[in-house]
Amino acid sequence: MTKLKLHIKPIANKEEIPFDLLELADPSRSQINSYLNKGFCFIGCVESKTVGVLVLNKISSTVIEIKNIAVKDTEQGKGFGKALLKYSEKISQELGFEKLIIGTGNSSIGQLALYQKEGFEIDRIEKNFFLNNYTKPIFENGIQCKHMVILEKKL
Ligand code: COA
Repeated sequence: MTKLKLHIKPIANKEEIPFDLLELADPSRSQINSYLNKGFCFIGCVESKTVGVLVLNKISSTVIEIKNIAVKDTEQGKGFGKALLKYSEKISQELGFEKLIIGTGNSSIGQLALYQKEGFEIDRIEKNFFLNNYTKPIFENGIQCKHMVILEKKL
């Protein structure tokens, strides 16, 4: 089977923002809106259909963060998440940043595997982040999501 290529581009206007995809990664619309306002939003398309999203926020002159990364349920496991991560690295490097960071929940086993396979290293844990910032409890893989694990990759 031929592998389909993901075409990644910056959104051209606000109507292109795929909130359904952003909400796969983040259940809080207020959190999403706060980082969308400050960041760069990209979409990943296959044959003109939007199947992925990526939001980057500048943290400092040297550090940039992936605030949201998601692939449509039916398109997961095909390498598109990795393609979005590689694109984040490339664009962040081109913009002159030295470090790319990403945070995920203690319960996000697949995501922790993916990011480490892509060369991110665990840097620190923000204890109780999800308990303090989200109104509803989050469970994944039978584990309560309480803490934010922050990973980093030097560019
Ligand atoms: N153990 C080990 N490896 C695992 C794993 C697990 N439990 N779960 C997933 N992986 C690995 C896969 O094996 C694969 O690596 P491989 O190619 O070396 O086999 C990799 O993770 C997945 O790669 P890919 O197909 O490129 O990812 P994807 O297109 O499915 O996208 C996400 C990954 C996380 C973006 C996607 O699953 C998603 O949108 N999830 C919902 C939103 C979300 O949680 N976003 C991140 C918030 S921090």
